[in-house]
Amino acid sequence: MPAIINNIADALHLQSQTRAFDSKVTVIFVLGGPGAGKGTQCARLVEDFGFCHLSAGDLLRAEQHREGSEYGQLIQTCIKEGSIVPMEVTVKLLENAMKVALQEQRSGDGWTDGQGRFLIDGFPRKLDQAEKFEHDVGKATAVLFFSTTEEVMLERLLERGKTSGREDDNVESIKKRFNTYKEQSMPVIENYEKLGKVIEIDSSFSIEKVHQQTKSAVANLLS
Ligand code: C5P
Ligand code: MG
Repeated sequence: MPAIINNIADALHLQSQTRAFDSKVTVIFVLGGPGAGKGTQCARLVEDFGFCHLSAGDLLRAEQHREGSEYGQLIQTCIKEGSIVPMEVTVKLLENAMKVALQEQRSGDGWTDGQGRFLIDGFPRKLDQAEKFEHDVGKATAVLFFSTTEEVMLERLLERGKTSGREDDNVESIKKRFNTYKEQSMPVIENYEKLGKVIEIDSSFSIEKVHQQTKSAVANLLS
Protein backbone atom coordinates (compact mmCIF):
# COMPACT_ATOMS: atom_id res chain seq x y z
CA MET A 1 0.00 0.00 0.00
CA PRO A 2 1.40 3.46 -0.81
CA ALA A 3 2.85 5.17 2.25
CA ILE A 4 0.53 8.15 2.02
CA ILE A 5 -2.61 6.03 2.24
CA ASN A 6 -1.12 4.07 5.07
CA ASN A 7 -0.51 7.27 7.02
CA ILE A 8 -3.96 8.70 6.43
CA ALA A 9 -5.55 5.42 7.46
CA ASP A 10 -3.42 5.47 10.57
CA ALA A 11 -4.53 8.97 11.43
CA LEU A 12 -8.15 7.90 11.16
CA HIS A 13 -7.49 4.69 13.11
CA LEU A 14 -9.18 2.82 10.32
CA GLN A 15 -6.61 0.11 9.98
CA SER A 16 -5.36 -0.25 13.50
CA GLN A 17 -8.76 -1.51 14.65
CA THR A 18 -8.32 -4.62 12.58
CA ARG A 19 -4.78 -5.46 13.66
CA ALA A 20 -4.13 -8.20 16.17
CA PHE A 21 -1.63 -6.11 18.15
CA ASP A 22 -1.59 -2.43 18.93
CA SER A 23 1.14 0.13 19.25
CA LYS A 24 2.22 -1.22 22.63
CA VAL A 25 3.89 -4.00 20.71
CA THR A 26 7.22 -3.11 19.14
CA VAL A 27 8.06 -5.03 16.00
CA ILE A 28 11.47 -4.92 14.35
CA PHE A 29 11.88 -6.81 11.10
CA VAL A 30 15.34 -8.32 10.59
CA LEU A 31 16.35 -8.73 6.97
CA GLY A 32 19.41 -9.52 4.89
CA GLY A 33 20.43 -12.30 2.53
CA PRO A 34 20.79 -15.90 3.62
CA GLY A 35 23.93 -16.20 5.74
CA ALA A 36 24.08 -12.46 6.46
CA GLY A 37 24.04 -13.12 10.22
CA LYS A 38 20.43 -12.35 11.12
CA GLY A 39 19.92 -15.21 13.56
CA THR A 40 23.30 -14.77 15.23
CA GLN A 41 22.74 -11.07 15.84
CA CYS A 42 19.15 -11.60 16.99
CA ALA A 43 20.37 -13.97 19.70
CA ARG A 44 22.65 -11.20 21.00
CA LEU A 45 19.85 -8.64 20.94
CA VAL A 46 17.67 -10.98 23.00
CA GLU A 47 20.33 -10.86 25.72
CA ASP A 48 20.77 -7.11 25.43
CA PHE A 49 17.15 -5.98 25.33
CA GLY A 50 14.85 -8.88 26.23
CA PHE A 51 13.30 -9.23 22.79
CA CYS A 52 11.25 -12.22 21.82
CA HIS A 53 13.07 -13.53 18.74
CA LEU A 54 10.90 -15.19 16.13
CA SER A 55 12.61 -16.60 13.05
CA ALA A 56 10.14 -17.12 10.20
CA GLY A 57 12.37 -19.87 8.78
CA ASP A 58 12.52 -21.69 12.14
CA LEU A 59 8.74 -21.46 12.54
CA LEU A 60 8.28 -22.86 9.03
CA ARG A 61 10.68 -25.74 9.72
CA ALA A 62 8.81 -26.52 12.95
CA GLU A 63 5.50 -26.50 11.09
CA GLN A 64 7.01 -28.70 8.37
CA HIS A 65 7.80 -31.35 10.99
CA ARG A 66 4.64 -30.96 13.05
CA GLU A 67 2.60 -34.11 12.92
CA GLY A 68 -0.66 -33.60 11.08
CA SER A 69 0.39 -30.34 9.42
CA GLU A 70 -1.29 -29.87 6.08
CA TYR A 71 1.59 -27.67 4.95
CA GLY A 72 4.52 -30.01 5.62
CA GLN A 73 5.13 -31.03 2.04
CA LEU A 74 4.61 -27.55 0.64
CA ILE A 75 7.03 -26.01 3.12
CA GLN A 76 9.67 -28.65 2.48
CA THR A 77 9.53 -28.07 -1.28
CA CYS A 78 9.70 -24.27 -0.95
CA ILE A 79 12.64 -24.43 1.45
CA LYS A 80 14.63 -26.79 -0.75
CA GLU A 81 13.91 -24.66 -3.81
CA GLY A 82 14.65 -21.44 -1.95
CA SER A 83 11.24 -20.10 -2.92
CA ILE A 84 8.80 -18.23 -0.70
CA VAL A 85 6.11 -20.15 1.18
CA PRO A 86 2.61 -18.70 0.56
CA MET A 87 2.37 -15.75 2.90
CA GLU A 88 -0.82 -16.80 4.72
CA VAL A 89 1.06 -19.70 6.29
CA THR A 90 4.02 -17.66 7.53
CA VAL A 91 1.98 -14.70 8.75
CA LYS A 92 -0.32 -17.01 10.73
CA LEU A 93 2.63 -18.81 12.32
CA LEU A 94 4.13 -15.49 13.36
CA GLU A 95 0.85 -14.14 14.70
CA ASN A 96 0.29 -17.29 16.76
CA ALA A 97 3.82 -17.21 18.16
CA MET A 98 3.44 -13.54 19.10
CA LYS A 99 0.17 -14.28 20.89
CA VAL A 100 1.83 -17.05 22.89
CA ALA A 101 4.71 -14.76 23.88
CA LEU A 102 2.34 -11.99 24.98
CA GLN A 103 0.24 -14.43 27.00
CA GLU A 104 3.33 -15.50 28.90
CA GLN A 105 3.23 -12.05 30.51
CA ARG A 106 6.96 -11.72 30.61
CA SER A 107 8.59 -9.18 32.87
CA GLY A 108 11.42 -6.76 32.26
CA ASP A 109 11.96 -3.81 29.93
CA GLY A 110 9.38 -3.62 27.20
CA TRP A 111 7.10 -6.30 28.65
CA THR A 112 4.93 -4.58 31.24
CA ASP A 113 1.34 -3.31 30.89
CA GLY A 114 0.53 -5.26 27.74
CA GLN A 115 3.73 -4.22 26.02
CA GLY A 116 5.97 -6.56 24.03
CA ARG A 117 9.05 -6.33 21.83
CA PHE A 118 9.71 -8.65 18.94
CA LEU A 119 12.48 -9.32 16.47
CA ILE A 120 10.90 -10.88 13.42
CA ASP A 121 13.83 -12.55 11.70
CA GLY A 122 13.84 -13.39 7.99
CA PHE A 123 10.55 -11.71 7.38
CA PRO A 124 9.05 -10.14 5.29
CA ARG A 125 10.81 -11.78 2.36
CA LYS A 126 8.26 -10.64 -0.20
CA LEU A 127 6.08 -7.55 -0.55
CA ASP A 128 2.81 -9.42 -0.03
CA GLN A 129 4.07 -10.74 3.33
CA ALA A 130 4.87 -7.21 4.47
CA GLU A 131 1.47 -5.90 3.46
CA LYS A 132 -0.45 -8.73 5.09
CA PHE A 133 1.51 -8.59 8.33
CA GLU A 134 1.17 -4.82 8.68
CA HIS A 135 -2.51 -4.99 7.88
CA ASP A 136 -3.49 -7.98 10.02
CA VAL A 137 -0.90 -8.22 12.76
CA GLY A 138 1.02 -5.06 13.58
CA LYS A 139 3.10 -2.19 12.29
CA ALA A 140 6.85 -2.46 11.98
CA THR A 141 8.80 0.13 13.92
CA ALA A 142 11.97 -0.43 11.93
CA VAL A 143 13.87 -2.80 9.70
CA LEU A 144 17.35 -3.98 10.61
CA PHE A 145 19.11 -4.78 7.36
CA PHE A 146 22.29 -6.83 7.55
CA SER A 147 24.14 -6.37 4.28
CA THR A 148 27.21 -8.14 2.98
CA THR A 149 28.49 -9.74 -0.22
CA GLU A 150 27.38 -13.03 -1.75
CA GLU A 151 30.94 -14.32 -1.29
CA VAL A 152 30.73 -13.81 2.47
CA MET A 153 27.24 -15.30 2.67
CA LEU A 154 28.19 -18.34 0.57
CA GLU A 155 31.20 -19.07 2.74
CA ARG A 156 29.14 -18.81 5.93
CA LEU A 157 26.33 -20.99 4.61
CA LEU A 158 28.68 -23.72 3.44
CA GLU A 159 30.41 -23.67 6.81
CA ARG A 160 27.06 -23.87 8.58
CA GLY A 161 25.96 -26.63 6.22
CA LYS A 162 28.62 -28.93 7.65
CA THR A 163 26.59 -29.23 10.86
CA SER A 164 23.18 -27.55 10.36
CA GLY A 165 21.43 -30.53 8.81
CA ARG A 166 19.47 -28.01 6.76
CA GLU A 167 18.26 -29.19 3.39
CA ASP A 168 19.00 -25.82 1.84
CA ASP A 169 22.60 -25.22 2.99
CA ASN A 170 24.06 -26.68 -0.21
CA VAL A 171 25.40 -24.88 -3.29
CA GLU A 172 22.42 -25.68 -5.46
CA SER A 173 19.81 -24.43 -2.99
CA ILE A 174 21.98 -21.47 -1.96
CA LYS A 175 22.09 -20.17 -5.55
CA LYS A 176 18.30 -20.30 -5.70
CA ARG A 177 18.03 -18.55 -2.33
CA PHE A 178 20.32 -15.76 -3.57
CA ASN A 179 18.07 -15.31 -6.60
CA THR A 180 14.91 -15.18 -4.52
CA TYR A 181 16.58 -12.69 -2.23
CA LYS A 182 17.53 -10.37 -5.11
CA GLU A 183 14.26 -10.64 -6.96
CA GLN A 184 11.71 -10.76 -4.15
CA SER A 185 13.27 -9.64 -0.88
CA MET A 186 15.33 -6.63 -2.01
CA PRO A 187 12.14 -4.81 -3.15
CA VAL A 188 10.82 -5.18 0.40
CA ILE A 189 13.93 -3.52 1.79
CA GLU A 190 13.73 -0.79 -0.84
CA ASN A 191 10.12 -0.18 0.10
CA TYR A 192 10.97 0.30 3.79
CA GLU A 193 13.95 2.41 2.72
CA LYS A 194 11.49 4.87 1.14
CA LEU A 195 9.55 4.97 4.41
CA GLY A 196 12.77 5.83 6.25
CA LYS A 197 12.55 2.71 8.41
CA VAL A 198 15.72 0.88 7.41
CA ILE A 199 18.82 0.67 9.57
CA GLU A 200 21.55 -0.85 7.42
CA ILE A 201 24.47 -2.59 9.07
CA ASP A 202 27.45 -3.99 7.19
CA SER A 203 27.63 -7.52 8.49
CA SER A 204 30.85 -8.49 6.72
CA PHE A 205 32.81 -8.11 9.95
CA SER A 206 33.20 -10.26 13.04
CA ILE A 207 30.15 -11.22 15.10
CA GLU A 208 31.44 -8.98 17.90
CA LYS A 209 31.94 -5.91 15.74
CA VAL A 210 28.58 -6.28 14.01
CA HIS A 211 26.96 -6.78 17.41
CA GLN A 212 28.39 -3.54 18.81
CA GLN A 213 26.99 -1.54 15.90
CA THR A 214 23.65 -3.31 16.03
CA LYS A 215 23.34 -2.88 19.76
CA SER A 216 23.84 0.87 19.62
CA ALA A 217 21.42 1.24 16.70
CA VAL A 218 18.72 -0.69 18.57
CA ALA A 219 19.37 1.19 21.82
CA ASN A 220 18.72 4.40 19.88
CA LEU A 221 15.56 3.00 18.44
CA LEU A 222 14.15 1.96 21.80
CA SER A 223 15.08 5.15 23.64
O1 C5P B 1 15.36 -17.49 7.02
P1 C5P B 1 15.70 -18.88 6.61
O2 C5P B 1 16.96 -18.93 5.77
O3 C5P B 1 15.73 -19.84 7.75
O4 C5P B 1 14.50 -19.35 5.65
C1 C5P B 1 14.54 -20.63 5.05
C2 C5P B 1 13.49 -20.72 3.98
O5 C5P B 1 12.18 -20.59 4.55
C3 C5P B 1 13.52 -19.68 2.88
O6 C5P B 1 14.49 -19.95 1.90
C4 C5P B 1 12.09 -19.79 2.34
O7 C5P B 1 11.93 -20.96 1.56
C5 C5P B 1 11.29 -19.96 3.62
N1 C5P B 1 10.84 -18.66 4.14
C6 C5P B 1 9.73 -18.05 3.57
N2 C5P B 1 9.30 -16.83 4.02
C7 C5P B 1 9.95 -16.22 5.04
C8 C5P B 1 11.08 -16.81 5.63
C9 C5P B 1 11.51 -18.05 5.16
O8 C5P B 1 9.12 -18.59 2.63
N3 C5P B 1 9.54 -15.03 5.46
MG1 MG C 1 18.11 -17.71 10.23
